[in-house]
Parts: sequence; C-alpha cells; structure tokens
Amino acid sequence: MRSEGVFVSVWHRVASVSEIGPNETKRVRVGDELIALYNCDGDFYATDDTCSHAEASLSEGWLEDCEITCPLHGAIFDVTTGKPLCLPATKPIRTYPVRVEGDDIFIEV
Ligand code: FES
Repeated sequence: MRSEGVFVSVWHRVASVSEIGPNETKRVRVGDELIALYNCDGDFYATDDTCSHAEASLSEGWLEDCEITCPLHGAIFDVTTGKPLCLPATKPIRTYPVRVEGDDIFIEV
C-alpha cells in the first residue's frame, strides 16, 4: 500500500491454522498479490506464489523440509528465505512476515 510516496505495510488475516496441515500449502490473495502460505511442521511462512523462473504457482508444488519444489520445471526454493536452491530458477522469491494468533494467520504486506 502506498500513501504519498511512503510505503506502508499492513497485517492481513489470510487463513486459519486449521486450513493448512503440516507440509501443506495454500494460495491466498492480498489485494493484487498472490501469496503462497506454507506450513513447515507447524511453523508458517509466506512467499510470492509466482515462481521467479516463469509463471507457475508455487502453492501447487511440493513442500518438504521448508523447501518448495516448483510444479512446472522443478526449481526448489527455501521458503524461509526465498532463495533458489537449484536451477532453472536463479532469482529469489519475495518473502513476507507471518504472525499466528490463536487459529488466525496474518501476513504483513
Ligand atoms: Fe518454476 Fe520454471 S516456472 S521452475
């Protein structure tokens, strides 16, 4: 969100903890942003949903050990940092702060 040239981030409630089981993913939308939400054995992380290599949806990939495998060409990203771990992706994906309060998951965008 921009206001008079100043970037303002806001926390958005995007899901319930009970909606995303261990090692599952969920695509959520905040405004125009498509975001992939990950449950890494009880710890939640969020990144851009769109792979940095092409246009695949990372939330449709496979999550294991906090690493998401892109379903299209197999690039792997560390969801805690957004860094690509193998080709064909060479650029990181954006990560977002996540906060859990009770059963509610919030992302700062
Ligand atoms: Fe993800 Fe190509 S679109 S690796």
